[in-house]
Amino acid sequence: MNILLIGAGGREHALTWKLSQSSLCEELFVTPGSDAIGQEPKTSCVELNVKNHTEIVEFCLDKDIGLVVVGPEIPLVDGLADSLEAAEIPVFGPSKEAAQLEGSKGFMKDLCKKYDIPTAAYERFTEINPALAYIEAQGAPIVVKADGLAAGKGVIVAETVEQAKQAVTDMLSGNAFDGAGSSVVIEEFLDGEEVSFFAISDGERILPLTSAQDYKRAFDGDKGPNTGGMGAYSPARAAIWSPELERIAMERVIKPTADAMSAEGMPFKGIYYAGLMIVHGKPHLIEYNVRFGDPECQAIMMRLESDLGELLYDAAIQNLTGWKKKLSWSDDHAMCVVMAANGYPESYEKGTAINGLDKIKEEASSKVFHAGTKNENGQWVSNGGRVLSVTAMGETLEVSKTKTYDIISCIQWPDGFYRKDIGWRTLSNVAND
Ligand code: AMP
Ligand code: GLY
Repeated sequence: MNILLIGAGGREHALTWKLSQSSLCEELFVTPGSDAIGQEPKTSCVELNVKNHTEIVEFCLDKDIGLVVVGPEIPLVDGLADSLEAAEIPVFGPSKEAAQLEGSKGFMKDLCKKYDIPTAAYERFTEINPALAYIEAQGAPIVVKADGLAAGKGVIVAETVEQAKQAVTDMLSGNAFDGAGSSVVIEEFLDGEEVSFFAISDGERILPLTSAQDYKRAFDGDKGPNTGGMGAYSPARAAIWSPELERIAMERVIKPTADAMSAEGMPFKGIYYAGLMIVHGKPHLIEYNVRFGDPECQAIMMRLESDLGELLYDAAIQNLTGWKKKLSWSDDHAMCVVMAANGYPESYEKGTAINGLDKIKEEASSKVFHAGTKNENGQWVSNGGRVLSVTAMGETLEVSKTKTYDIISCIQWPDGFYRKDIGWRTLSNVAND
């Protein structure tokens, strides 16, 4: 069948790489895609206006698209899956209503409260004074979150009461994040270690996928500002995550959420990406995302042995029956290290030259995914904040790390930087708290 993938980043390059290997895939269209994505087998990039659902539906009918895969959250929160379903085009991704799990932190928290899903204690506010009084009463550390999508910038983990008050004042008094901050969630600070846990649902059945850990801070030693993610590895380290914990996360978090969504009349189809804080060995839900993580996806796709096209298609047509047995992962460890433009996540330059990429050997167990590049007359140049996702797999995390950083050493990009310590907690055997 022909497949349409929506998106352009490192996550979408990894999805393209894996989808183009699918036995189901004849032609893969990616919108908007990128020069690097367009170089994958069977793949062409197309310019479509993703906000114009009629245009997308018409393209799908014209190209006989049998499956649409939506990479990022914004089109989902915007209801693209609903428009495609209305035209009877199979789509992998939740409806607009169900995408609120990511699109509204308040929605997610209220659902957890109503259905007894473990999460940090919280209150929601739209007025400044009651919010300030709540912060005063709770004390610090405390976490302030803009309700809506804010490209990863809407969460302030405040170490002092003053910082928290400043954050709510900024969010509630202005028009922060295009209105996403006009309502806030203020919640208890949870002290633990985070795991990204992924599960897939066809709207009825749910299947655990796998785990990863993401390094969100810009600099080594988990210092510097929060970013979209500077690196990841999969599976999460054994000191913090185990088959038993996965079972608990399914029983206490994912399945109750699925039941709750169905009970609320908005069954969820797509990826549950649960950001879990493991506190004294127990998972607490920090956030839901309704799509694959970036850069977690790059590491995960490398470990996936099953046919991604078949998996996502079966989920799209409510037919995940049998996948429990069929789903297969490599036991190896995969690491992804992000190379970002100097200055990211603040302001950075675009168009800086990157050399050495064409000399890197293509292998099944390693790949340089492009997150933000362009090819100008044969010269790769940067075209975003996060620019490359260098990914490799090995028998141990150590081996995958050596392979990943060996590839990085072949890349000459003076205008970029990367973290040198992805995987440090596992590799230095930091104890579980
Ligand atoms: P979110 O966008 O909700 O994932 O939040 C971004 C980051 O803020 C998370 O990955 C955590 O590191 C941190 N964070 C969010 N909520 C909490 C919390 N309740 N306690 C501690 N850290 C948190
Ligand atoms: N890596 C974090 C995210 O995709 O939201």
